[in-house]
Amino acid sequence: MKILFFILAVGIYCIYANQCPEIDSHPYPTLLPHPYDCTLFIKCHRGEEHIMECPFSDRTNTTRLRFNATISACDWPQNVPC
Ligand SMILES: *[C@@H]1O[C@H](CO)[C@@H](O)[C@H](O)[C@H]1NC(C)=O
Ligand SMILES: *[C@@H]1O[C@H](CO)[C@@H](O)[C@H](O)[C@H]1NC(C)=O
Repeated sequence: MKILFFILAVGIYCIYANQCPEIDSHPYPTLLPHPYDCTLFIKCHRGEEHIMECPFSDRTNTTRLRFNATISACDWPQNVPC
């Protein structure tokens, strides 16, 4: 399942225009699309934004999955135009 890719995603902490709710949603955290890079997404934790990277979609590490806001998950590149 695509949701498993989150476990592989690498988190990088960063601050800018914060759209996260103060209260976390449960059981899954709020995920927001990144404003300019579709291979990144924002994971909310207690009102703080954590920039996450979608994992690579192939073994040569050249293509990353892209965040699909409709399903709140990293999706195959052909499903998400950038
Ligand atoms: C792709 O990335 C993984 C994890 O960082 C690494 O173990 C692997 O060697 C990389 N593969 C290539 C072909 O660079
Ligand atoms: C996102 O996922 C949905 C459901 O699988 C799909 O219909 C849609 O084409 C995908 N891409 C975007 C950009 O929403």
